[in-house]
Amino acid sequence: MRQGTTVYLYELAWILPSVAIPVGMLVALLVTAFGAGVHLPGREGRVDPTRVSETAPFDRPGVVELAPGRYEARIVAEVWAFTPNEIRVPAGSTVTFVVTSKDVVHGFLIHGANVNVMVLPGQVARATGRFNKPGEYPFLCHEYCGIAHHTMWGRVIVEASR
Ligand code: CUA
Repeated sequence: MRQGTTVYLYELAWILPSVAIPVGMLVALLVTAFGAGVHLPGREGRVDPTRVSETAPFDRPGVVELAPGRYEARIVAEVWAFTPNEIRVPAGSTVTFVVTSKDVVHGFLIHGANVNVMVLPGQVARATGRFNKPGEYPFLCHEYCGIAHHTMWGRVIVEASR
């Protein structure tokens, strides 16, 4: 056995993971980007934060039914409230939340649903949640946005199916 040409087992135990880990990360990146559609904020999601109230769909905040069981909730965040701060949908609904901010950075997190986004002025955030169980799902601002940040909340009310 000549020195310098042998790959020892314990060397291999370091080399293989150091190749496998970055490859695994690259695969995860590709899967989230192209499979799950996770992207950086893009140009198409922009809105002029000074003209939110005149810009569709935020000129008419609220819930619209896109198809049976599918809803879109347009929500405007500003210090220190969400408009609207109460949303009603029937159980079994899939709701896409479209949220933007008029002023500073806010957050939008729905307790009990898989919805958690940052709400940046100038940017439209989208997140979709499914609501199978009737009940109240509080949503709140989770980015500190000033003195009354803790009062910035609302709720999704999921009604028993008609
Ligand atoms: Cu809005 Cu904290």
